[in-house]
Amino acid sequence: MQTLTIRRPDDWHVHLRDGDMLALVAPYTARQFGRAIVMPNLAPPVTSVAAAAAYRDRILAATAGLDFTPLMTAYLTDDSNPDEIERGRRDAVWIAAKLYPAGATTNSARGVTEIGRISRVLERMQAIGMPLLVHGEVTDPQVDTFDREAVFIDRILLKLLADFPALKVVFEHITTRQAAELVASDDFPNLAATITPQHLMLNRNALFDGGLRPHAYCLPVVKREEHRLAVRAAAVSSSPKFFLGTDSAPHVAAAKQSACGCAGLFNAPFAIEAYAQVFDEEGALDRLEGFASEHGPRFYGLALNPGQLTLERGGCAVPTAIGDVIPFGAGGHFAWRLSN
Ligand code: NCD
Ligand code: ZN
Repeated sequence: MQTLTIRRPDDWHVHLRDGDMLALVAPYTARQFGRAIVMPNLAPPVTSVAAAAAYRDRILAATAGLDFTPLMTAYLTDDSNPDEIERGRRDAVWIAAKLYPAGATTNSARGVTEIGRISRVLERMQAIGMPLLVHGEVTDPQVDTFDREAVFIDRILLKLLADFPALKVVFEHITTRQAAELVASDDFPNLAATITPQHLMLNRNALFDGGLRPHAYCLPVVKREEHRLAVRAAAVSSSPKFFLGTDSAPHVAAAKQSACGCAGLFNAPFAIEAYAQVFDEEGALDRLEGFASEHGPRFYGLALNPGQLTLERGGCAVPTAIGDVIPFGAGGHFAWRLSN
């Protein structure tokens, strides 16, 4: 197969940032994806309907002329108010709410300190069919960084799923065999997961490949090969519970190449090319469309995109930098490229 045409995909997890960074990065997402779920971890975070509406306007300005719809999210805090969360959904400003355990990742300081504090919000979201998007890592410093996702399942997620059985939950950017198995299980029909290109392509050796590699550092951190293989198998399994979410999370190079470097990879410029390479390697190109363009909208209860996107085998070269940001795969190649 030399070319592949699929329904236009969506990105169900992306960080578009704000200001100059938004202007730099948003067109890359909008070029490939019809829609994207935009993460709310700005500084300050997007906690109000008004802030989300204003942020959406700035994204639309940054992607003017491109056929792109940003889908906004609310950032949950200990003080989130169920009425405000519901109002944003009813007024079609935001579509979902994001749970960051406080301190788990970039700009999560105002996240939720204890899940019990948002019970009323979760009850309301369950009642109105609003999805909860979860950064699934515990923050307990006693827990090994590489185990934080698996421990989150045991300490927090299983109870959450039991307490709110009808709540739609997306386990974001899964990285472990445990997460892939949990999501695939028939026991949790309302649980789905996004999967990033980096967690399909890298294992934790990438962090230390000849030296410390800040551009392979994201959260949740890439794991052992065993886990990468399990996540790959889930992505290509054709289960409707797994779908595309890049977690593209740009930081300027100086902020990553630092004594305390930021977590996050900028993979938006060649996202669909990276996924196509993985599905090709797995002999599953026929399943890319489901993962990239169908499973996500069905989970969220949205129409599929009308347009199409064509990829060609033959490779694309990734530049060494885009503005002040080093993209995922910088200086290398992916095996597929976007046509025209
Ligand atoms: C994200 C960011 O920089 O906003 N970083 C990351 O490594 N993925 C936050 C997140 O999704 O954890
Ligand atoms: Zn993210």
